[in-house]
Amino acid sequence: METSIPASEAPITDHPKMTVIGTGYLGATHAVCMAVLGFDVLGVDVDEKKIALLAAGTVPFFEPGLDEQLRAALASGRLRFTTDFDEAARFGDVHFICVGTPQAEGSHAADMRYVDSAFTEIASRIDRKALLVGKSTVPIGTASRLTELVQSVSPIGSELELAWNPEFLREGFAVKDTMHPDRLVFGVASSWAQRQLEAAFRPILDEDTPSVVTDLATAELVKVAANSFLATKISYINAMAEVCEATGADVNLLATALSYDSRIGGRFLKPGLGFGGGCLPKDIRAFVYRAEELGVGQAVGFLKEVDKINQRRRVRTVDLIRELADGDLAGKKIAALGAAFKPNSDDVRDAPALDVARFLYLEGATVMVYDPEANENAHRAYPDLNYVDSMREALEGADVVALLTEWDEFRIADPAEIGELVAHRRIVDGRHALDADAYRADGWVYRALGRPTDPQTVALHEDARDDAEAPLHR
Ligand code: UDX
Repeated sequence: METSIPASEAPITDHPKMTVIGTGYLGATHAVCMAVLGFDVLGVDVDEKKIALLAAGTVPFFEPGLDEQLRAALASGRLRFTTDFDEAARFGDVHFICVGTPQAEGSHAADMRYVDSAFTEIASRIDRKALLVGKSTVPIGTASRLTELVQSVSPIGSELELAWNPEFLREGFAVKDTMHPDRLVFGVASSWAQRQLEAAFRPILDEDTPSVVTDLATAELVKVAANSFLATKISYINAMAEVCEATGADVNLLATALSYDSRIGGRFLKPGLGFGGGCLPKDIRAFVYRAEELGVGQAVGFLKEVDKINQRRRVRTVDLIRELADGDLAGKKIAALGAAFKPNSDDVRDAPALDVARFLYLEGATVMVYDPEANENAHRAYPDLNYVDSMREALEGADVVALLTEWDEFRIADPAEIGELVAHRRIVDGRHALDADAYRADGWVYRALGRPTDPQTVALHEDARDDAEAPLHR
């Protein structure tokens, strides 16, 4: 798809040298994957510790498969790391900016300090034709503001061009999503920028990956619109779970039935404790904030409701756990299985699991948290909870078990075996990840949000479920 953009005669670099500024989750993955795809890449960060770890072949966070790719990229000689912006400006033909845009303190707006600083630092040193490419998730209008900023600080002025290339990678699938994305979006202000970006993504485009060329504002909007849609889908099914709770209906059966409609589909329709992480929650809030600034707040007002539905899931999960703990959490021992915002990640940013554990603690429960990868980050965020090194230790003597992040280790646990460890066989399945029948057959009281509790209804629904199992996946 084409957009009308000014033509330009400036030559492009066929095999551009790249810098990746900001080596957090997004940047480190992008730098590694681009080097694996055959480009010369320089990763840049202000954090010396992070740069030293990456240069030594260690990924500073948990991401399946990334360690191996990092080591392969370093061994190829195509990937290096530095904290020196002068070196970066000399090296790069294309500079990708991948720094974070966290939620600003005390506000729903995005904190743009890191983005502004990264663009200024690199632009003020660039003295030959180059392309700056923003990948961070930003409020609409940022790229146009940054274009003015970088051209005013760069020695080459308006010769320095800016493009926007949003990133859609999911934690846990970062390598796959970067090397084989569903689509590429190139937000550009000139045909030179478009051709230069196409050269930078040639190996991915050659796989027939769809690409959409847009203006800068549309490229910024694609990212927040996609994340808002996904968040809305999750909150939609969780809102249906609330209706199920009031009517005795089963949200799992409902989701399965909906998923067979190809217009709806089963992805991101998994009910439970809701969404968390470093993207979905803060992106929908920043979107609402920016839309209100632009005078179109009404258009996305529904996202406030999406956020509220999502927050209620955490409170309702605590209600269920309290119900199973005979109505009072004070002094009860609760096994909290999971802390990360989703499995295969050690990220605890806005993690529903950790919020639930914290609420339980505030009501006087003794909470034993175990996550296969996220204990350390969780401990840093909430040092008051008890963290243990194994599922077994978390379960020992528990009055109620709460499954909060659906790691495989928890899904495949044998209900009879773990039943021997707990004080009472009571479990809240916060992620609809367990086989309710198997648990009930082994004498567990099994509860999940939006699923009936009455034994007769349960029996009826379980029979129907056996006939209608469709995969609901992410
Ligand atoms: C998300 C987007 O998917 C990705 O495209 C974007 O680039 C960054 O934000 P990520 O934050 O890694 O990726 O996680 P995602 O897999 O989207 O899950 C987000 C949250 O939603 C998790 O807490 C997950 O448990 C929850 N979720 C997901 C559900 O509750 N139900 C679902 O059906 C799917």
